[in-house]
Amino acid sequence: MKIAIIGAKGLLGEACMRILALRESVETMGISREQVDLMVLTDVKEYMQALDYDVCIYAAAISGLEDCLANPIDAVRVNAVVPDIIAQISVQKGAKMVYISTDYVFDGEHESRPDEFTSPNPVNVYGNSKLEGERSIIARSPDFLVCRVSWLFGRGRSTFVDQVINTLLEDKEESYIGDKFSVPNFCDDLAQAMADLLIREDGVSPSGVLHLVSDSEPESWYSYAKEILSSANHLGLTKSYSQSISNTDLADAHFFNEARPKHTAMISKRLKAEYGVEVRNWKGGLEEYLQLKLEHYLTNG
Ligand SMILES: NC(=O)c1ccc[n+]([C@@H]2O[C@H](COP(=O)([O-])OP(=O)(O)OC[C@H]3O[C@@H](n4cnc5c(N)ncnc54)[C@H](OP(=O)(O)O)[C@@H]3O)[C@@H](O)[C@H]2O)c1
Repeated sequence: MKIAIIGAKGLLGEACMRILALRESVETMGISREQVDLMVLTDVKEYMQALDYDVCIYAAAISGLEDCLANPIDAVRVNAVVPDIIAQISVQKGAKMVYISTDYVFDGEHESRPDEFTSPNPVNVYGNSKLEGERSIIARSPDFLVCRVSWLFGRGRSTFVDQVINTLLEDKEESYIGDKFSVPNFCDDLAQAMADLLIREDGVSPSGVLHLVSDSEPESWYSYAKEILSSANHLGLTKSYSQSISNTDLADAHFFNEARPKHTAMISKRLKAEYGVEVRNWKGGLEEYLQLKLEHYLTNG
């Protein structure tokens, strides 16, 4: 199976490249900015038409909320227009398309955790562009798959986890938002789940909207930071655990220009029930990731 991964050098793309390639009979093809600039639609068409693939995972995005607010046309182009073009080409080729989406398609106002059947209602430019992307993919073929994910960390680039560790290493005091909730996910675990979804012996081809999440409890940025610090301390990643962190409210985070939904911790009604796939609790992934960081520090100082 030839799997093309667009956004191959991003956080999730990097994990997909590494983990899918470990499966027997899979060949991964990484597509990043060096191969094609997604802002240039004619180049995208030409490149994708010439590419031989069975599955295309679209993990590229403009995902910074403030970036999307400042450049809404670019956000729609990369998050919706280009995926739609690739979906059309995939239909012509008889290939499958997987579009990676986000918990930010929800408004965060729900009493209960949103599942695949909850109506989306994005509150910002990013969420709107991603929902447009989702809808255009599904409209192109009922066989295509949308995987919604939330709060990623992993090897591909620095994330919240690395920022929290850095403030600890620098012995800085920090405050984290305590009234905004979602579920963190280790990219390697999500890439494993994607491999389980796509490489199957039962011939089933997962389709439609799927929440790629574990059944872990929601975390706020504050409780997430606390867990990172405690896990780092437990692993001996830091010599001392002297840092005190404090709790602040989203309403007091004046450095944000764009709206952020408050409660977007998703659950899945389909992942295990329909496809028998599970995502590991993120705390296991956190320990694995911090262990890797520790080994890196011990080797490189
Ligand atoms: N990160 C999260 O916490 C999170 C949460 C929920 C959902 N998601 C979704 O998960 C998916 C993966 O997110 P991620 O965090 O892995 O993304 P990421 O690390 O930001 O990677 C996105 C990739 O897209 C590429 N890209 C953007 N514009 C491009 C262009 N014009 N031409 C070529 N490449 C371009 C970037 O390339 P450059 O590096 O060259 O710019 C980057 O490698 C996205 O769909 C995102 O919406 C992420």
